[in-house]
Amino acid sequence: AAAEKGGFDTFMAKEIHEQPQAVADTLRGRIDETGQIVLDEVRMSDQDFRDIDKVFIVACGTSYHAGLVTKYAIEHWTRIPCEVELASEFRYRDPVLDRSTLVVVISQSGETMDTLMALRHAKDQKARVLAISNTVGSTIPRESDAVLYTRAGIEVAVASTKAFLTQLAACYLVGLHLAQVRGIKYADEVSAILDELVASPGKIAKVIENLEPVREMARGSVGKDRVLFIGRHVGYPVALEGALKLKELAYLHAEGFAAGELKHGPISLIEDGTPVVAIVPSPRGRSLLHDKIISNIQEVKARGAKVIAICEEGDAITASHADFVIETPATPTLLAPLLTTVPLQEFAIELATAMGRDIDQPRNLAKSVTVE
Ligand code: AGP
Repeated sequence: AAAEKGGFDTFMAKEIHEQPQAVADTLRGRIDETGQIVLDEVRMSDQDFRDIDKVFIVACGTSYHAGLVTKYAIEHWTRIPCEVELASEFRYRDPVLDRSTLVVVISQSGETMDTLMALRHAKDQKARVLAISNTVGSTIPRESDAVLYTRAGIEVAVASTKAFLTQLAACYLVGLHLAQVRGIKYADEVSAILDELVASPGKIAKVIENLEPVREMARGSVGKDRVLFIGRHVGYPVALEGALKLKELAYLHAEGFAAGELKHGPISLIEDGTPVVAIVPSPRGRSLLHDKIISNIQEVKARGAKVIAICEEGDAITASHADFVIETPATPTLLAPLLTTVPLQEFAIELATAMGRDIDQPRNLAKSVTVE
């Protein structure tokens, strides 16, 4: 078993380290020399993509978080309205779907019953269904109209890591493809994003090389009643994902919030010493967002929180406000989740290890949830 883990203590640790390769594999062959995205295996024509006037993304758990990130990207790049929904809620509320709706279902295993039932509902309503899955030949891709496979390889640990990053990569490809076939307002931005997407595996590797400070902070958070995660824009789904990892692995109360919502309730949870992990957007470009999260950091610090900020390297403003900073390489805001998620995975694994938890097989959880 030790050999299967490739020298790591757990499958999850091994899978965290496989992320640069997994993302590179997922991108490989899907961007041609002219910078066009080729999704031949998707079997939807350019005209099919042009006919779409609404996108729904439906998934569970971590895959749902990948969907939340994708909403920001799709709406910005394509101007097509995009909604994201938990699969277990989707079909029970009678969503408005028709032939011009694209339903993207995201499932690592391809067997999640909630997601499968949502997909069947979408097909009954005549929507087109595109699956993003890591498991070739599984039920969800088989029942979908089209499929884009992630190439994470087998993920053994119950807590999803490399599958999530490859879902993001695949979702970005879908968003950029939609933008390209529809003729876009942001052509320059899209080609810059593509270059950055191709560069992302190297940047993920840099984040992985620099995880020791996160481990230290995780050990310093042992014994706390709760850990909160805050973010804005795509940092919000990253906050949800960081909290889910910690719940799953450490059995600790962890919650992710949109940072702007703090003042509408959750800020009352902050006590002296409560760890708050803040996902800070780049100070370049969307600096308004950056200013806003700095004020959120100030608000929680004023109530005694210990702030761990995940920020872009060289972000001196964040460094001057947070108690600890973890730096990630510069990248466009929409792609940042590929980098900022990684320290949160490590935070969870380290804190859970310090608490003596079973990392690969947390209690009460199954890798693939085949009941509704
Ligand atoms: C992630 O760490 C979880 N174990 C879980 O939330 C998972 O992402 C969810 O059950 C969806 O699984 P799927 O991607 O295989 O459909």
